Amino acid sequence: MNKKKIISVVGARPNFMKIAPILLELSKHAEKFDSRLVHTGQHYDQAMSEVFFRDLGMKEPDHNLSVGSGSHAVQTAEIMKRFEEVCLQEDPDLVLVGGDVNSTVACSLTAVKMLIPVAHVEAGLRSFDRTMPEEINRIVTDSISDLLFTTEISGNCNLSKEGVAEEKIHLVGNTMIDSLVRFSGQIANGGPPRVRTLAGKRYFLATIHRPSNVDDAEQLAKVLLILESASDLLPVLFVAHPRTRERLRKLGRGDRFVEIKGEMGEIRPGCVYLLPPLSYVDFLYAMSRTTAVLTDSGGIQEETTFLRIPCLTLRENTERPITVEVGSNEIVGLDQARILSALSGITEGRWKKTSLPPLWDGKAAERIVSVINAWC
Ligand code: UD1
Repeated sequence: MNKKKIISVVGARPNFMKIAPILLELSKHAEKFDSRLVHTGQHYDQAMSEVFFRDLGMKEPDHNLSVGSGSHAVQTAEIMKRFEEVCLQEDPDLVLVGGDVNSTVACSLTAVKMLIPVAHVEAGLRSFDRTMPEEINRIVTDSISDLLFTTEISGNCNLSKEGVAEEKIHLVGNTMIDSLVRFSGQIANGGPPRVRTLAGKRYFLATIHRPSNVDDAEQLAKVLLILESASDLLPVLFVAHPRTRERLRKLGRGDRFVEIKGEMGEIRPGCVYLLPPLSYVDFLYAMSRTTAVLTDSGGIQEETTFLRIPCLTLRENTERPITVEVGSNEIVGLDQARILSALSGITEGRWKKTSLPPLWDGKAAERIVSVINAWC
């Protein structure tokens, strides 16, 4: 059999931990697959990209498109232009994209127009909120993909309702959880130097970066107030994405905020510790030991479900309903009273009983590669 050439695409931080397990699995079948990696360069800061390659042991990309930041149209168009060149040069049999970022939609659109089949990992998720750029990216990517790999059953239902043929849809589990399973040994022992001092401490962990929460000054002010009030219960570690940090710089912040640049030292209630983006392993270590997470991230809702850590999602909806139905997640918006009451309950040990979603067992990438193999 001729080897099949597969181009996998990464671009933004949440892509790396979702695609790494698939690359690993493809490399185990090197006699069948010629695996190439493209990094669009949507995320380019060392802390948003390079450290993840190191932590996850990913190979150097075969092509780096270095697109950088821009408006949605500019970023998407720039990726398409540069990815088209790569496809012309490589002539792949399949393009594999993950998640819902601009790189996902840009590369899938480029590929299908060149009659190259597309596989979408994490297909079918829907928040039903079209003001989210990710929702548009998900709908478009799913509507043009040939293989749709879902993480939870809601994905299958959404795709069926949208008229996607059943034979294209494969419930395989969650490759982000594959990475988590792979690294759980590392985070159980010792701990990485930067955050090692968190062992045995009680704290809340916060990450907020959605445009709807940080781009509007009024919304961001509400978020900051919530974090400050939460810190009355336990110290808050606020890990800030570059987008959030930029907005904070403009808005200013109260005197409860303490900037941490290097290793974590002592932490105390009444303070919100502002941290730069952490590496994959540092973040997992901090997340696996926290009392609760406050977030608007998609992936963290899933990781906390797997780790059984209480998660409050500061949004009005989730595209990952399984994390609420069986997992440790609750959707709380920016309702300060509700959030503080939930946090106070959690600190006293009151939270719902949870279980793990089907197939979140660390073997999703194995299933994906086996489906691709059969499809080839
Ligand atoms: C992107 C994804 C979002 C995902 C998030 C995870 C889209 C539409 N959004 O949002 O779904 O949750 O990544 O991190 O694709 N910046 C830097 N350094 C970087 C990257 C970005 O400083 O390495 C700054 C730039 O000022 C840039 C801004 O962050 O303009 C936003 O970056 P962008 O890639 O447009 O979207 P994210 O907010 O990161």
